[in-house]
Amino acid sequence: PSRRLARAADNFGKGRDVSNFKPEGATEVRQAAQAFMAMRERIQRQITQRTDMLSGVSHDLRTPLTRMKLQLAMFKNVDGVDDLSADVSEMEHMLEGYLAFARGEGTEKPAPTDLGMLLEDVVGQVRRRGRPIDLHLEDRLSLPLRPNAFKRCVTNLVENAARYGQHVSVRAGHRGDAIEITVDDDGPGIPEDKRAEVFRPFFRLDDSRNPETGGVGLGLTIARDVVRSHGGEILLSESPTGGLRGRIRLPL
Ligand SMILES: Nc1ncnc2c1ncn2[C@@H]1O[C@H](COP(=O)(O)OP(=O)(O)O)[C@@H](O)[C@H]1O
Ligand SMILES: [Mg+2]
Repeated sequence: PSRRLARAADNFGKGRDVSNFKPEGATEVRQAAQAFMAMRERIQRQITQRTDMLSGVSHDLRTPLTRMKLQLAMFKNVDGVDDLSADVSEMEHMLEGYLAFARGEGTEKPAPTDLGMLLEDVVGQVRRRGRPIDLHLEDRLSLPLRPNAFKRCVTNLVENAARYGQHVSVRAGHRGDAIEITVDDDGPGIPEDKRAEVFRPFFRLDDSRNPETGGVGLGLTIARDVVRSHGGEILLSESPTGGLRGRIRLPL
């Protein structure tokens, strides 16, 4: 029974389903199990609360923003209005990005997933948009994942790599008691002292908010959130070709 409790706690940390866990065994073990279940409830409630609050805030901000946009449209040809309109559009764009993320979070259940197939899917989609990408799968990789969330996470990394580099290579295999996915590119990379900051929401290194370079700065934030919700970690370093290496480690 205490081993089952340990396994349930471990699974919960990896974001896996522990709903069929039942307290059993000696009084002390049962008490610990009951405390574990209460803790699990509280953590789950907190996650829901956080998601609800953030999506509520994003949602409510949309109304005044739309109003501002309409009012700005009436001041055409006034100095500075174009800049203001661009700022309002950007804020809308940021809110949409956040809302899309908040909506998908929390509801998806983990399911046994063929990670190789998932990676082929993601890589295929980015390839179709015109970048050659190498994919190297070292073994058959299968583990419980929230497939849509995880797909989004890997897509964010691969899209970044394809945006900043010419050559992208994705590799996955077992490393000890974990599965590792690396995404390498040969772009400009990220200076070491910025590698923590790029995970912050809406943080972007590009000085120009060039719409061509895509996102609003939520890509890595979401990617890390998803990996952590599976009990894993995501690390940035320099790739062998001088660009960025993103490394996802998932405990088995
Ligand atoms: N592969 C990469 N090479 C160089 N810089 C990158 C790479 N991936 C991300 N970055 C930098 O990190 C910032 C944050 O990335 P991300 O969270 O995906 O946001 P977004 O793609 O929306 O800008 C990017 O704006 C960019 O400056
Ligand atoms: Mg991105």
